Amino acid sequence: MPDANGNVSANAFRVGAPAANPTSELKGAHSYDWGMKDRLSRIFDPKSGKTVMLAFDHGYIMGATSGLERIDVSIVPLIEHADCLMCSRGVLRTCIPPTCSKPISLRCSAGSTVLTELNDECVGVQIEDAIRLNASMMAVMVAIGDKKFEARTIRNLCRMIEAGNRYGIPTLGVTAVGQELTRDARYLGMASRVLAENGAQVVKTYYCQEGFETVTAGCPVPIVIAGGKKLPELDALEMAHHAIDQGAAGVDMGRNIFQADDPKAMIQAVRGVVHDQMSPEAALELYNDLKQS
Ligand code: 5RP
Repeated sequence: MPDANGNVSANAFRVGAPAANPTSELKGAHSYDWGMKDRLSRIFDPKSGKTVMLAFDHGYIMGATSGLERIDVSIVPLIEHADCLMCSRGVLRTCIPPTCSKPISLRCSAGSTVLTELNDECVGVQIEDAIRLNASMMAVMVAIGDKKFEARTIRNLCRMIEAGNRYGIPTLGVTAVGQELTRDARYLGMASRVLAENGAQVVKTYYCQEGFETVTAGCPVPIVIAGGKKLPELDALEMAHHAIDQGAAGVDMGRNIFQADDPKAMIQAVRGVVHDQMSPEAALELYNDLKQS
């Protein structure tokens, strides 16, 4: 019911008090529109500025992967500890409860498997389906340095960014490693920078032991690291710790979580490193305590 007196009695204008100017602390995000910032703030914890993304999109190129044979059994119990879920639309629709309330980073590039030419991808998910699935981010692989697929995969990224910008959905540029290239700071720094220059709002790349701080420093948007193949728990926690210490904004980790002896304990230990600045040793202790309990 409209109230004709409400505006007459309004007097709390605080004349002289400067207007609040809400902004975003996330790297590179100050000039984004509200919807884009809102989606990013659901992925990156506004307090720590960091994220633990749980990646389980491996099946789109590898089929059933160890630890992901039954996503309903192995991944769903981990959801409560993740800041964001990274998966394919097939798994999202069939295995993830729509009531989980977690932001989704939707795998949107597709086109090949480990049996053939891995980097031969196209845009496999159109923006309409990403919107229908309420994606908070769209992930596209880009094969910088791959003589056959570099140009095509950059075009895929640009297409997705154009569509995402239209609707305020950020795009995650995922660096792949070309066949003749190594995962060193020079390559990863260049690849990350190219993705950001093309407009990716977040970049996913690998950690490297030498000079990773130059990779993050040279990239104007947040970088999250992939975990890669399964490592001993302490090594994986050390990698996450070094990456955060050297400027990463989080992890997008899969196998080192869901292939751990106790995935639920491992994701909590990774959170300790990413959000609470735990040392790898303290996080391993937490892992062992949680595992025993
Ligand atoms: C698979 C991916 C994964 O999301 C990415 O590699 C992260 O997983 P992991 O930590 O197991 O490497 O892109 O296609």
